[in-house]
Amino acid sequence: MTTVITGIGELTTNTEEWGTLRDAALILEGDVVRWIGPAAQAPAADRRVDAEGRAALPGWVDSHTHLVFAGDRTAEFGARMAGEPYSAGGILTTVEATRAASDTDLATTLRRLRYEALRQGTTYLETKTGYGLTVADEKRCAALASEVADEVTFLGAHVVPPELSADEYVDLVCGPMLDAVAGHVRWIDVFCETGAFDEQQSARVLAAGRARGLGLRVHGNQLGSGPGVRLAVRHGAASVDHCTYLTDTDIEALAASTTVATLLPACDLSTRQPLAPARRLLDAGARIALATNANPGSSYTTSMAYCIATAVLQMKLSVSEAIWAATAGGALALGRDLNAEGAVGVLRPDARADVHILDAPSTVHLAYRPGIPLTWAVWQRGEQVV
Ligand code: NIG
Repeated sequence: MTTVITGIGELTTNTEEWGTLRDAALILEGDVVRWIGPAAQAPAADRRVDAEGRAALPGWVDSHTHLVFAGDRTAEFGARMAGEPYSAGGILTTVEATRAASDTDLATTLRRLRYEALRQGTTYLETKTGYGLTVADEKRCAALASEVADEVTFLGAHVVPPELSADEYVDLVCGPMLDAVAGHVRWIDVFCETGAFDEQQSARVLAAGRARGLGLRVHGNQLGSGPGVRLAVRHGAASVDHCTYLTDTDIEALAASTTVATLLPACDLSTRQPLAPARRLLDAGARIALATNANPGSSYTTSMAYCIATAVLQMKLSVSEAIWAATAGGALALGRDLNAEGAVGVLRPDARADVHILDAPSTVHLAYRPGIPLTWAVWQRGEQVV
């Protein structure tokens, strides 16, 4: 079965070879892109969709979410908007609700949010454990996540639960908990921050994950300057996420590394923190990704478009830099090769057929018309889902 999407007014490919094409067409075959080029030269296909001049781009790659949770933190959000500071302490509220929830309830929320994201053009999504914090709860959260998400991260080292000391808990995370989740996850992550895990504890978690063959990610520099970026770069992590508070040394270290700085602007705004220094990172030569950090505490949104608009309007990225970070950048943060067959975050022959068409003539509208739902159609693995 082949589909030709023709009449594309502006096609963002994120590739050097194809760049941004006008009056373009794409042919999808099975779950990959088969052909790309000028609409006038498009070969025939079984099915034809006319985009009537709209803009098309790769589906969003949301490389940082926490969708396995129960409960609600509206009151905490309200208090924050009234002036209370955000602290990682609220995580334990969600831990309590998640432990008490049934698998069915957790799966329902997970699927609802995954679908909410897909409807807005997110065709590839990572999610994490981290609200269970017992062996049994982390294991079921990992298993549920693996049924819905494209990539699953083990974040047992999110915070220390009240029933254990930090050292006892790190032993548990690096031993029985890691054993229990390993079959369901591809990544290990640690929240390296005051109030969560210190540098030494975080290094132990990363080393244990690496020994089990997992890829490494770090939550770091979210609430203040600290060792997160240094740790991530030293361990060759694929990504260090948040990066709200960076020193010049952090930025230089990121620029000299392959570790992606994953920026979470919706979280920075929702926690009333400064926005991460995206411009300084790009100007220094670092690689960045933009992601939603969807979770019930610090960032309750699945909207990548909101992150793009914020990145352009307030973080001083160009529209194309923001789009690249929310697609190809996210793919790199998840260790995906942009040139491989089935690549995500790019559109070219043999890439995964994840296509997002906007109800707008140009991607500039993502920032020019902030807050407007612009998704017109979405293909995921070659199947039209919106
Ligand atoms: O990425 N930083 C730690 N973890 C989440 C917070 C989740 C919460 O507050 O529940 C984050 O922001």
